[in-house]
Amino acid sequence: MIPANVIDDIKARSDIETVVSSVVTLKRTGQNLKGLCPFHSEKTPSFTVYPGTQSFYCFGCGAAGDVISFVMRTENLDYVSAVETLAKRAGIVLPDFDESDRREQGVTRTRVLQMNLEAAKFYRQMLFDEQTGGPGRQYLAERKLSMAAIKRFGLGYSPPSGSRMLKHLSSLGFTNQEIQTAYFAGKSERGYYDYFRGRVMFPIIDVQGNVIAFGGRVLDDSKPKYLNTSDTPAFKKTKNLFALNYAKNTDAGYFILCEGYMDVITLHDAGFGMAVASLGTAFTEEQARIIKRYVPKVILSYDSDEAGQKAANRAIGILEKAGIEPKVLRMSGAKDPDEYIKKYGADRFRSLIEDSGGKFEFMTENIRRKYDIDNPADRVKAVAEVAAAIADLYSNVERDIWIERASKAFSVDPKSLRADVDAQRKRSAKEADKKRRGELIRITSGLGDRVNTDFAKVPKAAKIEEGILGMIFLHPDYITREPGGRRLREDDFLTELGRRLFRFTAENAESGTFQFGLLNGAFTPDEVSRAAKMLAERADLSVNDGETFDSYVTALREEGTRHGEGADSLEAVLARRRSGTGEPPAGQP
Ligand code: UTP
Ligand code: MN
Repeated sequence: MIPANVIDDIKARSDIETVVSSVVTLKRTGQNLKGLCPFHSEKTPSFTVYPGTQSFYCFGCGAAGDVISFVMRTENLDYVSAVETLAKRAGIVLPDFDESDRREQGVTRTRVLQMNLEAAKFYRQMLFDEQTGGPGRQYLAERKLSMAAIKRFGLGYSPPSGSRMLKHLSSLGFTNQEIQTAYFAGKSERGYYDYFRGRVMFPIIDVQGNVIAFGGRVLDDSKPKYLNTSDTPAFKKTKNLFALNYAKNTDAGYFILCEGYMDVITLHDAGFGMAVASLGTAFTEEQARIIKRYVPKVILSYDSDEAGQKAANRAIGILEKAGIEPKVLRMSGAKDPDEYIKKYGADRFRSLIEDSGGKFEFMTENIRRKYDIDNPADRVKAVAEVAAAIADLYSNVERDIWIERASKAFSVDPKSLRADVDAQRKRSAKEADKKRRGELIRITSGLGDRVNTDFAKVPKAAKIEEGILGMIFLHPDYITREPGGRRLREDDFLTELGRRLFRFTAENAESGTFQFGLLNGAFTPDEVSRAAKMLAERADLSVNDGETFDSYVTALREEGTRHGEGADSLEAVLARRRSGTGEPPAGQP
């Protein structure tokens, strides 16, 4: 752990306005600054920086935090690396403790990065070495990779025999333990041996230019085809993308997402520098969030086989969830982009990009491929699948449009298609309801909510409180309303978090200084996120008028009375006993 005073020192020398300004163009509005949010795409600025509390908050997406969380999010770093980055920027030299919690068996991130860089140089040297590199160079030539691409991606080669890397890294002063932790060596009864052998090597480089990992491909059909560095103190595969270091500098306005290293390299070589790939795993939500920082749109270019199309379907959902527009490139005559470009050339690939369809085309074409639409029995099944897909869509408008389009595409009556969709939605709603009930039982049985720990005791009141607080965040002047003849008070709230949020907000609203971002200074990040959720949920609803507010307050007071007659008064009695007065509360039997 980095000591708190050192972190305070770093924060004090890292003015949030200056740090944010290097990423976001900020305009002053009163005491604060506004700009376009780097965490979601928007046209009017809702990203706000509060120099007074050295915090930021986005009214659009709810992202909130301080200068460290800003760097963590924009540069995709964990806490310690973000602090390191800020320290470097502020000219503060961190003593040795800086890496202590990034250690794995005593091996630090910095040491792994140093090893990776040395290893990349050594693999490259072995590829170009007359003695050792022949098979690697020949393989890359067969795959028709240009010398420019080989150099640009820093490809290398690990010979099949000997433990050259182990020896090389040892000679540079790295211990066997370090070398193993960084995945350059494995260990058997007979000792340490090179992990990558007889493979062409693909270094993986992060957006700051660090070599963070490697993928290594065999030169023939043996298995496993690729070996990859597993997670190390310097690498999390679910949080990085191959070639992002180059793609981030392109300005096409979209990325092409592929499955393989080879696809990406070939695409870059053919002029499509916006291609990236996930790293030996299925595409993750974290990767989608990273992409979102750079582009609002992704063209999926997965393998054309069934596995590839299934993976594309999953990726569509993940992209949408991250707020990225998914497009799917349709390719025939080749199994992946690498093969396609080598067979048909870059120009034809470019027209595939232009012809790439959206989710609707992807869905209908998959269904068409599966069924013979001219056969009546098949057609019924196909239309049922179409209806199920449409029923899954979240927005009414989108469903309407799809029903319209699908009824044309499959020549069915839009009315009966709509009836099918509605029936399907009823079924799913029932299932969701069942699930929600299960969830509620889980929460009320005391597991669950860690942020609002009182939630389980008074779930209904807690929900009402969230609505009330959300409305107050939107309309701080509501605190002066007098539902039922008196203002809302702290003791109307049944949860401790609700009380604290109300007290803080009301105090600031009273003096006319309430800003949501102020919560950053007074509440934990989890609590601020919860508050941001309350705000966001209300902002999404159109009914936040004063009367709605009043009816929520009335409902909360009713909950209070209900609980006051039950468990809470017992608690009050016990509390009095404990404090020694022994008196039952007034008005109670
Ligand atoms: P592919 O088998 O489609 O690889 O796997 P590719 O890139 O097209 O390889 P070539 O053209 O046969 O050389 C896609 C990706 O899945 C991961 C790798 O990241 C690969 O690029 N993968 C695949 C592995 O990690 N291990 C494997 O054994 C296979
Ligand atoms: Mn391939």
